[in-house]
Amino acid sequence: MRRIKMFEPQIGSEEINAVVDVLKSRWLAHGPVVEAFEREFAEYIGVRYAAAVSNGTVALVLALKALDVGPGDEVIVPNYTFIATATSVLMVGAKPVLVDVEPDTFNISVEEVQKAITSRTRAVIAVHLFGHPADVKALREICDDRGIHLIEDAAQAHGAEAYGRKVGSWGHVSTFSFYATKNLTTGEGGMVLSDDEQIIRRVKMLRNHGQIAKYVHEMLGGNFRMTSFQAALGRAQLRKLDMLNDVRRRNAALLSSIVREIHGVEPPVEKLWARHVYHLYAAKILLSDRDCVADCMKNAGIEVAVHYPVPINKQPLFVKLGYGSLVLPVSEKLSRVELSLPVHPGLSEEDIARVGNALKECVEKCAQG
Ligand SMILES: Cc1ncc(COP(=O)(O)O)c(C=O)c1O
Repeated sequence: MRRIKMFEPQIGSEEINAVVDVLKSRWLAHGPVVEAFEREFAEYIGVRYAAAVSNGTVALVLALKALDVGPGDEVIVPNYTFIATATSVLMVGAKPVLVDVEPDTFNISVEEVQKAITSRTRAVIAVHLFGHPADVKALREICDDRGIHLIEDAAQAHGAEAYGRKVGSWGHVSTFSFYATKNLTTGEGGMVLSDDEQIIRRVKMLRNHGQIAKYVHEMLGGNFRMTSFQAALGRAQLRKLDMLNDVRRRNAALLSSIVREIHGVEPPVEKLWARHVYHLYAAKILLSDRDCVADCMKNAGIEVAVHYPVPINKQPLFVKLGYGSLVLPVSEKLSRVELSLPVHPGLSEEDIARVGNALKECVEKCAQG
């Protein structure tokens, strides 16, 4: 039987032709195609200015630098996320303040953010984990009240919406990743967006050696640029994004209709105010051994994954930095029960039924006690 993959970039003739056109043009590095991608993506998200960069990690680092966050500053980040959200703060010399997440959405807890704000807090990074928006409306209000920046890490949430508005348009700055597995990919790539022209001007300088005029350098920067063939791929992907997200949503709804019937498994939630884009379909395996279920699924020819087996406070790097004794029970529990199941747009309704039925069998086989 065909192996069902966890991820499968959707690359058609539009993407291939767009990249070939750039190769034929011989204009390979930064240029008008990158600028067109910036304009189109900013317009899609509903933000005025954008700077394409080499990946989502760099997008976070440059966003923090553009906001002048550095040594002595604190930045509040969720304890349950991909490592780059937290390490980007370390990379600019600031202190990540880890807070717990909501047990249903996996996203940063608004209440915990409020408790963690100090006189040193300069920013909050809200991650829209797995494609479900964080409560950016509440977070933006808190940040505005306290005079701190809201940064959205929207690496996993291209096209997701909160309260009828795209994520990436709620923060003072937002960042995206276009890594190979993302809902919109350029292979590697990233973008920083903001309605503040000065922030994006600074990001554009930082990504290009701090240059203000040819070979004249005003600040410490580096080479964090995107290539034209990556941007061409991104433009072709952007045209399909809504359609591909709709297929993800259809697949997720189908899978949830099966998962809901399995005792001891919780499907992902979608808040009434949210539009989830299912970058990942994160189920919770509550009454069976999660790792046993994962092995069983793999043996049935279905790729699954754990996002994330280790919360940030328990990562060896963070333990070394003294975060190991922090107790953040929600994220620690989620890391033991989360199991990501495939719902990517390359899967048919039959594939999804196979995923759901295999899960039912594996959960029964691995039931505890
Ligand atoms: C939440 C989150 N933030 C940041 C990143 C970093 O993006 P990149 O891999 O493009 O550097 C990722 C990518 O996997 C991510 O999932």
